[in-house]
Amino acid sequence: MKKIFLYGAPASGKTTLGALLAGALGARHVDLDAEIAASAGRSIPEIFAAEGEAGFRGREAAALAAVCAADGAAVVSLGGGSLLRDANRWLCERAGEVFCLRTPSDEELQRRLGAAPGSRPLGDRARERAAHYASFPRRIEGWFDLGNSLVVVGRGIAGAVLAGERAAADETVARLYPGLFGDGGARLVASIPSGERHKNVGTVSSLWSAFAAAGLGRRDRVAAVGGGVTGDIVGFASATWMRGMDWINVPTTLLSMVDASTGGKTGFDLPEGKNLVGAFHSPRLVVVDADFLATLPPETLRQGRAEMVKHELVGGRLPGAAGGMPSAEEIAANLAVKVGVVKEDPFERTGRRMVLNCGHTVGHAVEALSGYRISHGEAVAIGCCEEARIAARRGLAPASWPAEIAARFASEELPTEIPPEIDRNRIDETMKGDKKRAGDVVAFALPCGWSDVRIENIDLGAETLFHNRTTPCA
Ligand SMILES: NC(=O)c1ccc[n+]([C@@H]2O[C@H](COP(=O)([O-])OP(=O)(O)OC[C@H]3O[C@@H](n4cnc5c(N)ncnc54)[C@H](O)[C@@H]3O)[C@@H](O)[C@H]2O)c1
Ligand SMILES: [Zn+2]
Repeated sequence: MKKIFLYGAPASGKTTLGALLAGALGARHVDLDAEIAASAGRSIPEIFAAEGEAGFRGREAAALAAVCAADGAAVVSLGGGSLLRDANRWLCERAGEVFCLRTPSDEELQRRLGAAPGSRPLGDRARERAAHYASFPRRIEGWFDLGNSLVVVGRGIAGAVLAGERAAADETVARLYPGLFGDGGARLVASIPSGERHKNVGTVSSLWSAFAAAGLGRRDRVAAVGGGVTGDIVGFASATWMRGMDWINVPTTLLSMVDASTGGKTGFDLPEGKNLVGAFHSPRLVVVDADFLATLPPETLRQGRAEMVKHELVGGRLPGAAGGMPSAEEIAANLAVKVGVVKEDPFERTGRRMVLNCGHTVGHAVEALSGYRISHGEAVAIGCCEEARIAARRGLAPASWPAEIAARFASEELPTEIPPEIDRNRIDETMKGDKKRAGDVVAFALPCGWSDVRIENIDLGAETLFHNRTTPCA
């Protein structure tokens, strides 16, 4: 990693995030205000009172120069006005990279400042400095602390984290982003052939060999740079390498940003089925950098949009325009839904995580019956719509609900009906083969409204959902 400077409005979380990020990266954490207070032998408000702002700024410039000159990796939490001086900004940008945190809303600010009155003399200046903060292009729009894993969402932040790391990257991503690797960037220890068909034991085995060739030990770590396939197999190879090596996940597709990168599941496919071999092994750090989306084909972007709408079914409608490229803010808000559920049930033991399977029971059957010609995202969209129709038929949702959910998926240019080439009569039997079954009873996570997914066990031995039904019955 390069030196990372966390900047932004007072109370934007620079100190808390700085400590977490440094912990995840095994780097030194420097809290500039704490350094200044320690060397002055008085608190920041006391320095302001005794020496005025000019006195404080002088101390701040000296402390910053010392931090920039020091060797080694560090995450530095800056004070809220420390880069107002061009000379300070220049120093930081030469020594590393500045990430500017989102300015909290007025209510958030009030809540945070209320906890420690008077401890932040510049708290009321956040608004005046909006243009100053906006002039920093590398942004952090949200972050989540999952205990064993930190997730940071922003723009322009992956390069600084990857610098000097050993990485295994999707070959397409490595080709599209050559600047991330090589001189001054990450050292590429393995490049992974693109596509689901390579998510197999052969690729995992070649990763183990690459780890051996790179001399990776149990206390080392590797960064995965790519979509869900890359994250799943690099995560699994790390879980099993010397009985568990740390890893960092840098997801580069929308689907992997909002879904696959968080939750700790790693694994690979067998000829007998998808994701049959796996392990829970959370990355220490997930760096979601929305800049990667610029090169994503529209079809791949839609895959992620499908899972984003699924999260709305779990967590409620979220702001943001339909279609196209979501912003980092939108991604952070959407990811918050998955993070919330994962935190409640990290190892899929209480059943809570099942809500994330919404649309997937019918979806997986449709995907399989199409011979995987229908993509996962399209199948999830169809699955959510069909499962909403099942919910309405069972009186769990109003009759108008299926049309509402279909309109939402259609706004993302996703399909909402099972195409005629799929034999509807085979859907029930295919769902019975789903790995979540117990006998003929299949657990569904039925979408019954925005923020209303209900787990229903349906006995497909006793009733049919699709068999001999020719119309969707919406
Ligand atoms: N671990 C989990 O919890 C979890 C959750 C959901 C899905 N998954 C897994 O994720 C996988 C699907 O993930 P995916 O959709 O990211 O697939 P993927 O990793 O195959 O990526 C899709 C395609 O996009 C390309 N690509 C990646 N980043 C790019 C970029 N920035 N620009 C241009 N092209 C880029 C890749 O080369 C690939 O061809 C499946 O294997 C699924 O099982 C895992
Ligand atoms: Zn899915």
